[in-house]
Amino acid sequence: MTSPESEPKKSFPTTIIAVAFLLVVALLTCVPYLVSIALAGDPVTADASPIFGVTVPVNYKQWELIAPAEEAAPLDELRAVVGNQVAIDAYQDGKLPFPDGTILVKRAWKRVQSPDFASATIPGAATTVQVMVKDSRKYAATGGWGFGRFINGKPVDEAQHRTCFACHEARARGHDYVFTRLAP
Ligand code: HEC
Repeated sequence: MTSPESEPKKSFPTTIIAVAFLLVVALLTCVPYLVSIALAGDPVTADASPIFGVTVPVNYKQWELIAPAEEAAPLDELRAVVGNQVAIDAYQDGKLPFPDGTILVKRAWKRVQSPDFASATIPGAATTVQVMVKDSRKYAATGGWGFGRFINGKPVDEAQHRTCFACHEARARGHDYVFTRLAP
């Protein structure tokens, strides 16, 4: 007499083998992808500054102006320091130190004479984008600030990044290491 259970019992090991086989195939299929992800690295960190891991904020060109600046020869640059909303709020409230999440970006261009009006100076080619990010824990060793200097979107070398805090610390310590004041 055939038991009604005998049918599923017989196929049980076959099912396990089939499922195990499928799992192995699925895992093996993933391996090349996992390896390629590991080798490619994080696309964000590839453009991050040495030492600090600071990147160029995506939408900084839309940020509000804090103040313009001008740099004499030999650099001959026009600059504009802009900030994210956390920065702008802190400036407007006169809040010091700047809160975590503050990001300041210094944009810079070659200073050129206007072709339309001799005494006017206008921005020429963009030169550098410099970034300061406030994270008081992560960057505790450098006054709570992480630094990044970029040319054509690529970070400059580590040696240049070693100079940032030293100068900001020496000259702007009393203003949370930030030189720029809100333009009146
Ligand atoms: C020799 C001094 C010096 C060094 C080195 C220096 N800075 Fe600055 N930084 C300044 C001065 C002065 C300003 C004020 C704006 C201006 O005059 O361009 C400034 C402004 C800034 C600002 C705007 C916020 C602020 O503090 O006013 C950022 C962002 C910035 N620097 C980033 C950097 C980064 C990143 C580095 C390193 C790659 C760096 N700085 C190295 C002197 C320096």
